[in-house]
Amino acid sequence: MDIFEALLQSHQRQREHCDRLLAGIGDHDERHKALDLLKTEMAAHETAEERAFYVPLIEHDETVDPARHGISEHHEMDEMVEDLEKTQEGSAEYLEALGKLVHKVHHHLDEEEQKFFPQAKKVLPVQQQQELGKLYQDEHDRLYAKEEAAQ
Ligand SMILES: [Fe+2]
Ligand SMILES: [Fe+2]
Repeated sequence: MDIFEALLQSHQRQREHCDRLLAGIGDHDERHKALDLLKTEMAAHETAEERAFYVPLIEHDETVDPARHGISEHHEMDEMVEDLEKTQEGSAEYLEALGKLVHKVHHHLDEEEQKFFPQAKKVLPVQQQQELGKLYQDEHDRLYAKEEAAQ
């Protein structure tokens, strides 16, 4: 599996968790479960993606700016999750913040796939795309297990 296929698998899981979150937004338990799954997947994905994808892309002049942009969006999403946790569960403000988080996640995933992946494919040799896929997947799985154990 190359880096792009590996990243896409997590993107699809994040979209599924977002769909489940919106579908179950009025149901406390379902909303909790979907949000936990989304947070765990996002945390493992962001860090593994930064290490195995953004860092090598910072090495290239052509992709340094989009790599910085992607990392700054990770920070924004992390802050949105932190702010959500400080908001009163189930309040109108909380539900609005959840909707904004889901919107931001979709925007970020779409932008990576549509704008960033084609640029990255031009600068990363095919052999490296394979190696980074393995590095990413190992990091993702290790971090996911760590996040789950911490819950
Ligand atoms: Fe990302
Ligand atoms: Fe991503």
